[in-house]
Amino acid sequence: MTQLIDGFQRKIDYLRLSVTDRCDFRCVYCMSENPTFLPKSHVLSLEELSWIAQAFTELGVKKIRLTGGEPLVRTDCDKLVKLLKQLPGLEELSMTTNGSRLSKLAQPLFENGLNRLNISLDTLNPDVFAQLTRNGKLDRVIAGIDAAIAAGFHNIKINAVILRGQNDHEVLDLVEFCRQRHLDIAFIEEMPIGYMDERQRKRHCSSDEVRRIIETRYPLIASTKRTGGPSRYVKMADSSIRIGFISPHSHDFCHECNRVRVTVEGQLLLCLGNENSIDLKAIVREFPADIERLKRAITDGMQHKPQSHDFNIDNGTQILRFMNATGG
Ligand code: GTP
Ligand code: 5AD
Ligand code: SF4
Repeated sequence: MTQLIDGFQRKIDYLRLSVTDRCDFRCVYCMSENPTFLPKSHVLSLEELSWIAQAFTELGVKKIRLTGGEPLVRTDCDKLVKLLKQLPGLEELSMTTNGSRLSKLAQPLFENGLNRLNISLDTLNPDVFAQLTRNGKLDRVIAGIDAAIAAGFHNIKINAVILRGQNDHEVLDLVEFCRQRHLDIAFIEEMPIGYMDERQRKRHCSSDEVRRIIETRYPLIASTKRTGGPSRYVKMADSSIRIGFISPHSHDFCHECNRVRVTVEGQLLLCLGNENSIDLKAIVREFPADIERLKRAITDGMQHKPQSHDFNIDNGTQILRFMNATGG
């Protein structure tokens, strides 16, 4: 059976495929205030994205997560779901979304076969939400989450990036929100991607701090649950939900990395926290539908996957591309 193995003997079976760099929000940890977006001519078509996805699944990738920007601002995203669901060997097709368009789209996405949704929600306070997203409307996202539950999605995970002094006082409220709706939640340490200054460094809040806040109310029990991503989970005695911690700074998970990313420009990024990339767009544009050629480039690329990310909150090392161009 074909498998993608990198230079450190890690098996790569998870692709994060970004379908747009655009978004209807401007989250402070993700985008600049006045972002520039890729010109349309740089953006891969649905067909081009599906050739790349096909090459990965033929190389043993079993899980694809659609990301952005915000994937659902791309109006043909539900068609892409339908296309990718046909790929033999694909066991899970999932999406990470800001939830703002789910009221309308949750049902068609579910019907087209999307398996799982991760939805970002950092606060339950409309004013804090507007500040963190620079313009977002909280009620639309909550309506979107409820629409996804009603559409039949199980295993929804809420993602919350916790920033000291901004939303760290809401950790327990977010846990309660998820307990009521039977949703898992992952608390994420902010990553220094894009522009990060001294003020931002000071708002870093570690997973251990978040965990201590939760433990003031609930004893936490270790859980063996994994979802293929970097989250480590715990559970509570009186609820079926899992609480995850994504801790790129405090608990490094790179040794078990199983994933690579492709940007909507067709750049194969071997690590979120590293600038190396391989240009797959040049191949799909010059040799359309040449899956074997793509497979060779991807296989060769694995040898350039670094052992670990390069960012370091203490010495200021950061990645200059913004998260919306990467898909997280
Ligand atoms: P599942 O495990 O399938 O639920 O997904 P996930 O947690 O991997 O994906 P999601 O898109 O929900 O990402 C949650 C957070 O994890 C985001 O902040 C991502 O940027 C971060 N993340 C995902 N993969 C990596 C990785 O390889 N390295 C780092 N540093 N962060 C990652
Ligand atoms: N650090 C950590 N997580 C981030 N996300 C976006 N930018 C950052 C960052 N700088 C998260 C979003 C979303 C997921 C795709 O990545 O909140 O849940
Ligand atoms: Fe948009 Fe998600 Fe980035 Fe926020 S974190 S600006 S919702 S892509």
